[in-house]
Amino acid sequence: MSPLVVRTVADLRAVVAGWKAAGERVGVVPTMGALHEGHLSLVQAAKRGADRVIVTIFVNPKQFNNPADLEKYPRTEETDAALLAPFGVDLIFAPMPDEVYPQGFASTVSVAGISDALCGAHRPGHFDGVATVVTKLFLQTLADSAYFGEKDWQQLQVVRRLVADLNVPVTVVGCPTVREADGLALSSRNQRLTGEERALAPALPRAMRDAAARICAGQTASVALAAARTAILSAGFREVEYLELRGAQDLVMMDHADRPAHIFAAAWLGDVRLIDNMDVRPA
Ligand code: PAF
Repeated sequence: MSPLVVRTVADLRAVVAGWKAAGERVGVVPTMGALHEGHLSLVQAAKRGADRVIVTIFVNPKQFNNPADLEKYPRTEETDAALLAPFGVDLIFAPMPDEVYPQGFASTVSVAGISDALCGAHRPGHFDGVATVVTKLFLQTLADSAYFGEKDWQQLQVVRRLVADLNVPVTVVGCPTVREADGLALSSRNQRLTGEERALAPALPRAMRDAAARICAGQTASVALAAARTAILSAGFREVEYLELRGAQDLVMMDHADRPAHIFAAAWLGDVRLIDNMDVRPA
């Protein structure tokens, strides 16, 4: 059955109030649409963890620091709704921008520290935009649990931090990255790769996996990641924006994996920016 589509906070609240009155637990999957198997895995996790599932679809202007990127972001609500239909999603919350940011909107949620590195350093204001809209979505949906992909690992840490700091009564569930058979992490941005670029794209996770193995074997991150950078550029990527080993939770830069760590990468293939991360588990 097709999920109910709701566009205003008042309508959303009315539906959620009915569920809550019946003692039902509500799960939310925040998305910007252009749904793929990765999102569907979040929906499946939400179905397991909650009685009612809301998928939000909102291309959040506040998290784009480049107007052209916002403009180009795929908007595919009808296809998204059709994709969600077989998964038993109860409600799609797809507000217009002025419902989320009405005239006079002046508040920002900013998570210091972990927002500053990696994507935060290269996309100023991005995580303020994410933290602000995610806080609003939590308050609008009053969800008991929320599901985020580990592909956006830094985003997941930002969300966990704000939930802890602001005592938001929601359980944040991180779900494993879904990959194509050739290792490429699923992303809405993959749709924008040309056929040739798509064939080259798995060089990114391949080089990261190779670097993870070298670091586990005792090589320093600086040496292992320099080799990975060369491999990524030789494969045809235009630019490596960052490629770093950092602590899994605090995102502090590391050279040896002497505690839980991840390799984080952002790289440009043509005009598409791909990000990925991989955990490094020394024996
Ligand atoms: O990961 C995304 O799609 C977005 O950053 C999110 C969490 C839906 C906030 O707009």
